[in-house]
Amino acid sequence: MSEKIRVLISEEEIEKRICEIGREISEYYKGEAVHLVSVLKGGVFFTCELAKRLTIPVSIDFMSVSSYGNHTKSTGVVKVVKDLDEAIEGKHVLVVEDIVDSGRTLSYLLENLKSRKPKSLRLCTLLDKPDRRVIDVQVDYTGFAIPDKFVVGYGLDYMQKYRNLPYIGIVELDD
Ligand code: IMP
Ligand code: MG
Repeated sequence: MSEKIRVLISEEEIEKRICEIGREISEYYKGEAVHLVSVLKGGVFFTCELAKRLTIPVSIDFMSVSSYGNHTKSTGVVKVVKDLDEAIEGKHVLVVEDIVDSGRTLSYLLENLKSRKPKSLRLCTLLDKPDRRVIDVQVDYTGFAIPDKFVVGYGLDYMQKYRNLPYIGIVELDD
């Protein structure tokens, strides 16, 4: 079995949208510093591009959670694989994620972070698949809402492949 990748969102479209979100976030936190919590590994590409567009003071930390599942479905059981290096108490925390799918990972992560008493806690995701939501999650900034298709690129993988694609593509399996 092999797979083909069909472009869903081009590199140009993504860059344009990240600029817009960057302006919106910079305006919202004006006069304050924001602490980005990037969710490994998928959120890293988006975090770097977004951080470059922010005009407010920025610090960055990383967290890795695994959602015990196979490559296309998550099971809802979430485990912290790598915790943050720094405390977030009193900070304006903005979680930066690649995609919100069922919402299970983010719902767990946001509850976990909330218990550490940040000054504020918001969520920014490059992609959202609203049709797939199982647990309600408040998303403050969304790059693109997409249909219920398995996508790769810009940090997102299919069995650890394709994270480096500079665009978002749909995986089409053919045998
Ligand atoms: P959740 O279902 O919202 O908990 O999302 C769990 C994780 O599944 C996401 O953080 C992604 O890593 C992964 N995921 C969900 N949909 C896709 C997809 O279309 N492509 C690649 N990874 C995905
Ligand atoms: Mg992810």
